[in-house]
Formats: sequence, structure tokens, C-alpha cells
Amino acid sequence: MADVKRIGILTSGGDCAGLNAVLRAVVFRAIQGYGWEVIGIRQGTEGLLARHLAAEPLEPAQFTGMLLRSGGTVLGTTNKGDPFDYPMPDGTRADRSQEVIEGYRMLGLDALIGIGGDGSLAILRRLAQQGGLNLVGIPKTIDNDLGHTEVSIGYATAVKVATDALDQLQPTAASHSRVMVLEVMGRDAGHIALNAGIAGGADVILIPEIPYRIEHVAAKIEALKAEERNFALVVVAEAVRTDDGEPVTRRQPSGEVTYGGIGYYVGNRIAEATGAETRITVLGHLQRGGMPTPRDRLMASIFGVHAVDLIARGAFDRMVAWSARRVIDVPLAEAIAAYQAVDPEGPLVRTARGLGICLGDE
Ligand code: F6P
Repeated sequence: MADVKRIGILTSGGDCAGLNAVLRAVVFRAIQGYGWEVIGIRQGTEGLLARHLAAEPLEPAQFTGMLLRSGGTVLGTTNKGDPFDYPMPDGTRADRSQEVIEGYRMLGLDALIGIGGDGSLAILRRLAQQGGLNLVGIPKTIDNDLGHTEVSIGYATAVKVATDALDQLQPTAASHSRVMVLEVMGRDAGHIALNAGIAGGADVILIPEIPYRIEHVAAKIEALKAEERNFALVVVAEAVRTDDGEPVTRRQPSGEVTYGGIGYYVGNRIAEATGAETRITVLGHLQRGGMPTPRDRLMASIFGVHAVDLIARGAFDRMVAWSARRVIDVPLAEAIAAYQAVDPEGPLVRTARGLGICLGDE
């Protein structure tokens, strides 16, 4: 047993549905189960950089109402401001990692739970290694691209939102005899597109893991027309490339480059190739919000409780994970290193092909 009295918790990277449910599980388990204190740190590592530290005790009473059910994170988060390469107000960049580590010490923390995706967990681990912090990671990302866990918090809700979008696009597509293109998130992985596309009855699913040719997509649309189907649903993952192999991106004022807009490109190409009336929906951040699905709440609860139990055992530098119907924990370094894209030969791709869904490669 580790001698633990006070643990910190922060949410880091892009938000997603289910984060508040993780906080709730950690607070319940740590306070009611072990009698510890839980300190919520605001805006990811930013809260440890600020002097005044942006952190406050969390209490079970805060979590008895809506928070289990609500999207976002009450602690706030950031997907910028890497403390090892921190953007300073004068435009320079600085290594502020030592200040974050000091923040942890100033709070008197015995351990820290970081809820993040691969990027933020990698930063937290680096901080932990440098400062000797007792870190446990909980995986969250709508992209579901973290290795060694079958699911990350937020993913199930994102798939639901994308599936709901297809459910709502289908009737209007059929009413107007249109091809509806739905662009979904996922960063460099096509998990959301593939899962929602299958669940939502898509005719075409384009994912970055499977290079496509527009001729194949057009042939599928023509074949549907020949069968007297008057509409088609096309799902495109945001990282899918143009014919030139280029992603469609936007440079944000911060200099950060984000995906977005490939749906318009694919929609225009389909219209040119088939003459079909085409409309585009870019689903965007709706996929990160909304009420967490039961599955996300469940995983959040399971991961939160297990993370606290790991701390109690003194098992640090680990990430909680879900595998073969069980909660497990794996070395954090291994989870960060093992990127999990869609397997082009995997069961879901085979399912899609078995359903006659065009993946753009044939
Ligand atoms: O990683 C989660 C994610 O939502 C990606 O799917 C998407 O590409 C990106 O974050 C968007 O980031 P931002 O919130 O900075 O626009």
C-alpha cells in the first residue's frame, strides 16, 4: 500500500463526453473508499503553472446530480500549452516543465491522475519522469486511437452522434434524391467513420487507412441509381486525402493545423463524376459534446475506480485500459507508443465489405 492522502486530477487535451463521469468515479472511490482528499486541477497542466495554483478540492456532493450525465469537463482542459515548449506572450517558446512539477509539490500531492489522449499522456509522463511524480493515466479520446485499450472515454458518444447524424440525413436525402456526405472527426484514424458508417447504413465510407479512388465511389453511386435507389449516404473521415495525397487542413491563428473540409472536396468530386445532387455536412465538435452514452459512463466509472485502486497499490506510471471484457492496466509508455489505427484487414472492415459498403478501393 502506498502512503497516499491527497491526489490530484486533471483533464487534458480535447474534451469529450464522459470526463465528468470519470471525475465522479475518482472522487467517490478516493474519498468514500479510502478517505483521501481529491484536488481538481483546472485547465490541464495550466492549473499547475499558474501562481495562484488553479486547483481546488473536489467533493462527492458536487457529483450527485447532473455531472454524470453532462458533456465537457468541469475542470476545463487545454490541447495547447505543452509545458516543455510553452508559447510565451512575446512569441518565444520556453520550457516551463519545472514550474508544473513545482505546482504538483506545492499542492502536496501524493499522486496524480491524468485523463488524456496519447499527446497529453505523453507530456504528463515526461513530467512525471522528470519530477518523480506518481502518475496514473486514464485514456480518453473520441478518436479511439490509443494502443492497448479497446476503448477510450468519449469514443462511444462520438460514434453515437455521428450515427444519429446519418439517421437524420437519410430521410432528407431520400426526400430530395441526394447524395449526402458526412465528414466526421477522428484525427488520423478512421474509427468513428467506420463504426458510425456501418451503424448508420452508409453506402460509402472513406477512411485514411484505406486509399480510395473517386471512380470507385462514383461507380457505387451509379450502381445504387441503377437499382433505383434515389439517395446515398457517404461518410468521410476528416484525415482522408485529396487525389494529390494532400489532407484538407486549416491553420489556426495559434499556428496549429487542424483537419476539416475534405467532405466538400469529396462531395464536389462525386457531383462532377456522377451529376448527382450532393450536400455536405461537417459534423465537427458536436461529436465531442452531448450526453455521454451509457457505455461511456460505464467505462468512465470502471476506469476511475481502477485508477484510484492502482494508486492505493502504489502502481504508478500505468494507464488503465479495457481488454477482453476486463479492466486492466498497462505501462503508460507502452500505451502511448502503440498507436491504434483501423486495421484494413480487421473485422469491421470485413463487415463493411460484407455489407456491400464501398470503401473506395474497389
Ligand atoms: O483528438 C480529438 C479531436 O476532436 C480530433 O478528432 C480533431 O481532429 C481535433 O481533436 C480537433 O481539435 P480542436 O478542438 O483543436 O479543433
